[in-house]
Amino acid sequence: MGSENQSTVTTFVLLGFSIYPELKSVLFLVFCLVYTLTIAGNITIIVIIKNDPHLHTPMYFFLTNLSLLEICYTSNIVPKMLSDILTENRSVSMLACITQLYFFGSLGSTECFLLGVMAYDRYLAICHPLRYRSLMNNKVCVHLAASSWLSGFLATLIAVSLISQLHFCGPNKIKHFFCDLQPVLKLSCSDTFITETIAGTFASIILLGSCLLTVGSYVQIISTILRIPSSEGRQKAFSTCISHLTVVIIFYGAMIFMYVKPTTANSFGFNKILALLYTVVTPLLNPFIYTLRNKDVKKALRKAAGNIWITEKNASFLR
Ligand SMILES: *[C@@H]1O[C@H](CO)[C@@H](O)[C@H](O)[C@H]1NC(C)=O
Repeated sequence: MGSENQSTVTTFVLLGFSIYPELKSVLFLVFCLVYTLTIAGNITIIVIIKNDPHLHTPMYFFLTNLSLLEICYTSNIVPKMLSDILTENRSVSMLACITQLYFFGSLGSTECFLLGVMAYDRYLAICHPLRYRSLMNNKVCVHLAASSWLSGFLATLIAVSLISQLHFCGPNKIKHFFCDLQPVLKLSCSDTFITETIAGTFASIILLGSCLLTVGSYVQIISTILRIPSSEGRQKAFSTCISHLTVVIIFYGAMIFMYVKPTTANSFGFNKILALLYTVVTPLLNPFIYTLRNKDVKKALRKAAGNIWITEKNASFLR
């Protein structure tokens, strides 16, 4: 076995966008701008909700958690990608690569669970309004959010520990801008069948499970809303879940697209564009969807902006 002395790869190179050297500065600027906006937008959501007592409800508690998640999710990918675009040294150690893969999988799973929990929260609020307060009390909220994070990080542990056991003997060039599952598995010299099967099974269970919970909740929600006699009442009930529904549709839309993409489209650029959609674009959209579509958040935002303005005015009086 050891007589051939197969070399063992300990670092990878992320090819990323290096095939477009002429676009280097444009790509860097665009991604830098989007990343800054994503972080600023999601932090704004967290701060606004924390500071406005009107928004201290389960729905907004889960929303701050989702914003926190989006910050982690995009920060796991984009800073390294930006530095890779800018510098010639695009190498990444085996450990860093596996860590990135682990966080990518864990945070993605957490997002599935959290979106499911948020749909269930809307289901209770709309279909069982009288029992909602007692069913979705503070303790339950904290437990549900904490278990989403915990199960996300535990579920990915098995697959990633299997991947860390694989042998890599070169080539070491990853045709992607981060350490995603498929591109990493492709480089292994070991038999990846078991690892691939287990990772695929976990991913399918998590995705299908949370998707069913979400779809089930919305079927109940919509049938309840349709039974509300007044159109004003219908609109009011619907407006509380439209933002979440939009986020859900974008998230699962991207996921389904990734799974059922035609094999002919499995070409080089396509995978990357799809990956950009859920690592860069979706985390940016969340805060905008919630602030633009949601009257309560808009009101809180205006109030906060007003407070800053008043404080500044007072400060200028004091000067
Ligand atoms: C998210 O949920 C966890 C677990 O319940 C909680 O400890 C944390 O404070 C929440 N984060 C935010 C930003 O709301």
